Amino acid sequence: MCGIVGAVAGRDVVAILLEGLKRLEYRGYDSAGVAIQNAEGVLDRMRVTGKVRDLESCLTGRPFVGHLGIAHTRWATHGRPADCNAHPHTSHDTVAVVHNGIIENHEALRIRLEDLGYDFTSDTDTEVIAHLVHHHRLQQPSLWHAVRIAVSELVGAYAIGVVSTTDPGRLVAARLGSPLVVGIGVDEQFIASDVTALLSVTRHFVFLEDGDVAELTQTGVTIHDAAGQIVGRPIKKSEVSADAINLGDFVHYMQKEIHEQSTAIADTLEGRLSGHRILEEAFGPLARGVFDETRCIQIVACGTSYHAGLVARYWFEAIAGIPCTVEVASEFRYRRPVVSPGTLVVCISQSGETADTLAALQETKRLGYAHSLAICNVPESSIVREAELTLMTRAGPEIGVASTKAFTCQLVALLLLVIAIGRRHGLGLVREAEIVAELAALPVLIEKVLRLEGAIRVLAKQLLDKHHALFLGRGTQYPVAMEGALKLKEISYIHAEAYPAGELKHGPLALIDAQMPVVALAPDNELLEKLRSNLQEVRARGGQFFLFADTAANFQDAPDMRVVRMPSVGSTTAPVVYTVPLQLLAYHTAAIKGTNVDQPRNLAKSVTVE
Ligand code: G6P
Repeated sequence: MCGIVGAVAGRDVVAILLEGLKRLEYRGYDSAGVAIQNAEGVLDRMRVTGKVRDLESCLTGRPFVGHLGIAHTRWATHGRPADCNAHPHTSHDTVAVVHNGIIENHEALRIRLEDLGYDFTSDTDTEVIAHLVHHHRLQQPSLWHAVRIAVSELVGAYAIGVVSTTDPGRLVAARLGSPLVVGIGVDEQFIASDVTALLSVTRHFVFLEDGDVAELTQTGVTIHDAAGQIVGRPIKKSEVSADAINLGDFVHYMQKEIHEQSTAIADTLEGRLSGHRILEEAFGPLARGVFDETRCIQIVACGTSYHAGLVARYWFEAIAGIPCTVEVASEFRYRRPVVSPGTLVVCISQSGETADTLAALQETKRLGYAHSLAICNVPESSIVREAELTLMTRAGPEIGVASTKAFTCQLVALLLLVIAIGRRHGLGLVREAEIVAELAALPVLIEKVLRLEGAIRVLAKQLLDKHHALFLGRGTQYPVAMEGALKLKEISYIHAEAYPAGELKHGPLALIDAQMPVVALAPDNELLEKLRSNLQEVRARGGQFFLFADTAANFQDAPDMRVVRMPSVGSTTAPVVYTVPLQLLAYHTAAIKGTNVDQPRNLAKSVTVE
């Protein structure tokens, strides 16, 4: 799972490729490489283990100029991070390939190609593509023909960019199951894994479909579909502004994105509320019929998006009054679930490209689930295109690998859905108006919580030397605690687990001592008194508390308890508000520790492989 970028232009493309790679590092960042065809028509390649800036340093002061090139930033799947496994992969110094995806039949292809005399220099699945294209180019009239035959022999997922010294000035691209866009410039054309990689050179994009093979020259793009027919795919203008992906005054993207949450939530609500009601039109013209038929909900998602689904389960059952199950997509897709009539499948995904979530959605269609709806942050993504209905979160580009603003916007979008469905199952106007009022109040409340950042930073210092932490919540705060624990472990590398506070006495209490900080969430709701008792159980055993509590709950600071006083919030939207301090706690712990906050080790923002 990786990021790819390619360009063919009348100017040197190296800076364009490097800039594109930097924008794609969220997809992987363990090694990077670039190949260009230079003025003599020779392939020149540079690959390094490390980040794009390391690649850039290696190129500094070296003659490396070309009008045609491809580049790659990697997240290792087959073969450890190493120079020899970094892309582009080449064959006979003629063909160069960058690839995002997984070739499942690479072993069989490798044996066949070795029998044909090809030498392999990497442990990757991708290298077979380079040799396969080279092999076919020996018999075919053009690179395009060779790529077309080569991809027909691949099993798995791919987005590829291919160049060959036999075909100067031509870049061939193909996709199946992995995202790939073509950027249309003025007498220059590009490819990339997503639009953000190319925003500095164009705003006009064609989204390739599965099975497409495109040939790019300086003057234009020709696309053939899976059947080999020339097709005209629509050119879309991207609304994402280049500014949206600049860091501004913040130290890290994660911090910037935490601070963007009140605006992102306001944007997600815009045009979707009217007076005291939600506007069902936001879900599209087919929604009314789908919602009328919906009898239960099946949510599938991964990572942080899965946690949003867990919060929504409480809402669907308590507010909308319909059954809801939630499952991580990687399990759901291989389980044989019993399909209940009238089930609406809800896929939640920031990127819209997570391979397991996409495959789970496809599986539900095969299994005959009634309807599907995607809650997603990227309008042109695969999951959006695959789902029957969509509700876009409008969080804007999220660059930090640890998801923050996308999560709170997902919660807001889910609550809109809960109301729309709940109306059909007895949710009255008064209750709807109460929830709408809570939603409308969120942007201001989140601003208030952001003002607690200084106090939370002080708490973060006390976490620095810890190796473990427990996060506790009850009700909808339990999945929020899970999300807080995930944030802490993924960016600060402190092991953290979340428990529903009532479950403590069934095991985790045994872990409690002064070295195990306990982070607890205490909004003023019907479970507060029960939570208070759970906290006493911990204090009695020498535990150290970090408590995020409603001011009205009247918890006092004590030597074993640090209290951050939260503003009063409505009981339904409390999970949105209580997420924010946990994001800040994880962020400041990691920032003070000096980890790579935006690109934590071993992770990637968008997991487009299984
Ligand atoms: C990766 C990211 C997580 C994200 C998850 C699901 O693991 O690191 O932050 O929550 O994928 O991604 P999605 O784009 O489907 O929400």
